[in-house]
Amino acid sequence: MKISYQETTNDLLTRINIHDAYGAKDIDKWMLEVLPLEQGMSILDVGCGAGKQCFSYLAHLSGKGAITGADVSDELLTKAKEENNKLGNKVKFESFDFNKTFPFPDNTYDLVSCSFAIYYAENIPFTIKEMHRVTKTGGYLFTTGPMPENKQMFYEIIQEATGKEIPPMPGSSRYASEIFKTIEDQFSDVKVHIFTNPLTFPSVDPFLTYTRASLSEDRLLWNTFFETKEDFEKIMSSITEIAKKWFNRDGKLVMTKVIGGFLAQK
Ligand SMILES: C[S@@+](CC[C@H](N)C(=O)[O-])C[C@H]1O[C@@H](n2cnc3c(N)ncnc32)[C@H](O)[C@@H]1O
Repeated sequence: MKISYQETTNDLLTRINIHDAYGAKDIDKWMLEVLPLEQGMSILDVGCGAGKQCFSYLAHLSGKGAITGADVSDELLTKAKEENNKLGNKVKFESFDFNKTFPFPDNTYDLVSCSFAIYYAENIPFTIKEMHRVTKTGGYLFTTGPMPENKQMFYEIIQEATGKEIPPMPGSSRYASEIFKTIEDQFSDVKVHIFTNPLTFPSVDPFLTYTRASLSEDRLLWNTFFETKEDFEKIMSSITEIAKKWFNRDGKLVMTKVIGGFLAQK
């Protein structure tokens, strides 16, 4: 499956900030509760972006762990390295493409994690096989991604505003099905942990900011929605109208994130 997707630093950081500001819960805290983290572990974070999970693991382990973050985006890796510098360069950041053989030896990591990234892999069995190869026997794989019921209100508003079919998202359309099954085929003892986080927007503006950071044509996933450059603003103005209508009716806008954490053992 060819996936035309490119995360942009601004869009990713905007969405992370909105989750922090309006979400009822903290996803990093949830991950730390679910993960079998121990000081001295070696950890690989695949699709690490700006290093959010790497820095959370590092703080939790009080700096006592060998953490590597790897990503294809030079822009996001530069952000990660800037933050790493401020924290004493304790994490190793590397450039790699998870559609190719990982540049890491067999049986290396106690934990391989992959947050909100596995569904951008072109060949899921191949990428999961690589994750399996670099995990130590008895080590863990942990992935996160959107379940099918994730942020339904967001899609309902877009559908009502445009009357258009929502394109199948690489995440929610196959994370709980195809991706779960592939992990089950290759690893043993797969456990599912669900994180439900309502984001309550006290006005329409932050919802629109989130929507722009999701629909931005840079991310390419929504290309079937936008035939010309002007279409983006036209569609955003229809979404604004419908979001205002929902807000006036309900007095708030609540978008619930429903995330699956799959924890598997090699
Ligand atoms: C939604 S972001 C998540 C980033 C980070 N894990 C987080 O939760 O903040 C998805 C990440 O997957 C990375 N990614 C997408 N395709 C990739 C590939 N082929 N190889 C490595 N990383 C990739 C993107 O560059 C981006 O950093």
